Amino acid sequence: MLAPLRDVRARPLRDLRISVIDRCNFRCTYCMPRETFDCKAKFLSRRDLLRDAEIIRLVEAFTDLGVSKIRLTGGEPLLRPGLAGLIEHLAGMSGVEDLALITNGVLLPQMAQDLASAGLGRITISLDSLDESVFASITGYRGTVGRVLEGIEAAEQAGFTRLKINTVVQRGVNDHTIMGLVKHFRGSGHIVRLIEFMDVGNSNKWSLDRVVPGAKWLKRIHDRWPLRPLASQYPGETARRYSFEDGAGEIGLINSITQPFCGQCSRARVTADGMFYTCLFSGQGTSLRPFLTNTCEPQALTELICRSWSEREDRYSQNRGRTGKTELKVEMYRMGG
Ligand code: GTP
Ligand code: 5AD
Ligand code: SF4
Ligand code: SF4
Repeated sequence: MLAPLRDVRARPLRDLRISVIDRCNFRCTYCMPRETFDCKAKFLSRRDLLRDAEIIRLVEAFTDLGVSKIRLTGGEPLLRPGLAGLIEHLAGMSGVEDLALITNGVLLPQMAQDLASAGLGRITISLDSLDESVFASITGYRGTVGRVLEGIEAAEQAGFTRLKINTVVQRGVNDHTIMGLVKHFRGSGHIVRLIEFMDVGNSNKWSLDRVVPGAKWLKRIHDRWPLRPLASQYPGETARRYSFEDGAGEIGLINSITQPFCGQCSRARVTADGMFYTCLFSGQGTSLRPFLTNTCEPQALTELICRSWSEREDRYSQNRGRTGKTELKVEMYRMGG
């Protein structure tokens, strides 16, 4: 392994988030609003997607540079044909210490066992409310709570423990259902993470009025079920973690708007067609695809990644609203969250 690669702000490159497909079976209002993403919406065709061999080459290059944590994202990653086969390859790679996946959960009943057998380490499931009508409306009337809960159960049966349950909170949309959701998962062994609604992409009509600061949840939850702060598990962790004093488990608050964590951000992102981005809010990326063929020297790919990372200055969340820049951002379902 080479010496750790650092960006302009001395932040190492540690995590790689790979989107394996840009399609999704949901149409969440904050990600792929159905007014815009109707049946005419354009997504990558199957041949545009990086092939498994290209993803493996990519991961080899990143692990050689010190990355040990890989997260597969989408769109909805479970829609990628042959996903379990890809996972089996990645799980067997020597540099991959943590292999995680984020999903909306509805395909887990038929896939969780294969994912476990393939060697997937961790699963995070997005679930914004347990109220059927609130959830239906957030997911563009594509999702039901019952199906996601079945997905959670299937993951448990396949042996996944300590699932992370990601809940994006929007004022006036699902905030009145949050305490019920926290209550439901207390004692389950799973970890609810309340995420401040973010201005990712250009289509989700974000406004600060729709953000409920995580500090408010901290107080509200602590008043009902006393909490104790937990130390972070790694530098640049997105979530502030707390345990319930009564032993009912853990929750996390991802306060990316009110308490940004750019200072220690070590995450790189690659889209399903091989674009490399150094920030969730980037508008400009670098295509790695030409460097992923078996005729291209691995060194060329490594040099390109090194150059992009070492020139990286990103701290979008820290500067939010201060730069006056209005560059178009890549949409979340392409960037991979
Ligand atoms: P763990 O590896 O389990 O700690 O996961 P994580 O918290 O890094 O990632 P997850 O995919 O569960 O993301 C949780 C939320 O944080 C999502 O809304 C992400 O979009 C957001 N998020 C993840 N990484 C970043 C980041 O680098 N910047 C910002 N602003 N948000 C991020
Ligand atoms: N703000 C905050 N989180 C978001 N996610 C998707 N869009 C947004 C947004 N606008 C979350 C998803 C998923 C993770 C990858 O990012 O719900 O849990
Ligand atoms: Fe699909 Fe996730 Fe986007 Fe919802 S947030 S539309 S589940 S990719
Ligand atoms: Fe990292 Fe960009 Fe998120 Fe800041 S806004 S934490 S630099 S991805």
